[in-house]
Amino acid sequence: MAKKLLPTGVQAKLLRSAKKVMKNAHAPYSKFRVGAAILLSNGKVFSGCNVENASYGMTNCAERTAIFSAVAQLGPRIEIRAVAVTNDQGLPCSPCGACRQVIYEFGPDATIFFPGANGPKQAHITELLPEGFRLQ
Ligand code: THU
Repeated sequence: MAKKLLPTGVQAKLLRSAKKVMKNAHAPYSKFRVGAAILLSNGKVFSGCNVENASYGMTNCAERTAIFSAVAQLGPRIEIRAVAVTNDQGLPCSPCGACRQVIYEFGPDATIFFPGANGPKQAHITELLPEGFRLQ
């Protein structure tokens, strides 16, 4: 369970944004479209979708697309408060290990909202990524 529960209004706003951007996914290989939205400490919301590649390993997940887009727009001093993830198949979908580490870089206190096996779930980033790596 997340230490800081997201207010339902914030959840709904992030989920709306994630569902909208999910439609832009480039997922011809997995056919699994994902959308993510992040809430920053300055109140701004950024979103991203998964972008796959014929060379599969080059795929970028929705969560990282959203975070990289925020950094590109605002610079590296962003602070992620919350992340919402959704997919077009109603499947459980928590952020992958690589995305957890990237979320942790900019949101060591972030709450993650995602579809779990038994419905929507919230978790603190450190529950999903205990002892994440930091250099500073
Ligand atoms: N994917 C995401 O974008 N985010 C997740 O949280 C899980 C997986 C994408 C990567 C790939 O394009 C597809 O879902 C299937 O793995």
